[in-house]
Amino acid sequence: MKGIVLAGGLGTRLRPLTLITNKHLLPVYNKPMIVYPIETLRRAGVLEILVVCGREHAGHFINFLGSGREYGVKLSYAVQDKNNAGIADALSYSEDFADKGDIAVILGDNIFEDDFAHAVKAFKTGVSIFLKKVKDPGRYGVPVFDVTGKKIIKIEEKPRDPKSNYAQTGLYLFDNRIFSFIKKLKPSKRGELEMTDAINQYVRAGTVNFSLVKGRWYDTGTIDSLLEAALQMQKGDGSFNSK
Ligand code: DAU
Repeated sequence: MKGIVLAGGLGTRLRPLTLITNKHLLPVYNKPMIVYPIETLRRAGVLEILVVCGREHAGHFINFLGSGREYGVKLSYAVQDKNNAGIADALSYSEDFADKGDIAVILGDNIFEDDFAHAVKAFKTGVSIFLKKVKDPGRYGVPVFDVTGKKIIKIEEKPRDPKSNYAQTGLYLFDNRIFSFIKKLKPSKRGELEMTDAINQYVRAGTVNFSLVKGRWYDTGTIDSLLEAALQMQKGDGSFNSK
């Protein structure tokens, strides 16, 4: 399976840090943020990776990451023309790279302790999403379960009144239908093509699988979560291994 790291967007919640530098190049303790999702894919056995980024910072990503050899992966790059058009819009730029195959997609600001090698190997069809119990679900995509609690009925993006305590994390395994689902999307209230709306099309087709993230997980898109992740990494000298 090929992999895609989405590293566009404006990072407005991290201003003024992101006024001149892209969010994914900011440090999380001793390395730029984008190294962590690349390492997550590599650990999962996903070695051929496309980095999608905005046009202003494309040169910085290439300059920093190069071919990817240093990280044990093979990198390609794509530019998202309008860099806040949404996560699903960013993903649409990877259709040719995916070459009709399955893909592992990770958001460039997500840091995971877990190893997803098993999930990648076991993936068959539809979408696999990874949920984490959180205290503040309203910040995320939140699954709504049926009465059995075992089946997802839909996912709500940043709901005011979350129907569960789970966040949809920023790792997704998709079959190639994702690209036809993205083509059907309309911009949300915040003017973006939402990944959650694309995933809801899989939910309606009855082809969504979910599992729980066991280890720690950070979405480092806010000042506080960026600091929390950095302090965690300090304990493990850039990894989750506590000293
Ligand atoms: O971290 C998990 C959450 O990520 C999920 O629970 C939500 O369902 C999902 O929508 C997303 O929410 P965020 O509000 O955190 O998304 P954000 O706008 O921060 O974008 C996440 C990453 O996606 C960002 O690091 C880079 C990439 N991105 C984003 C946008 C808006 C792009 O590449 N292009 C874009 O236009």
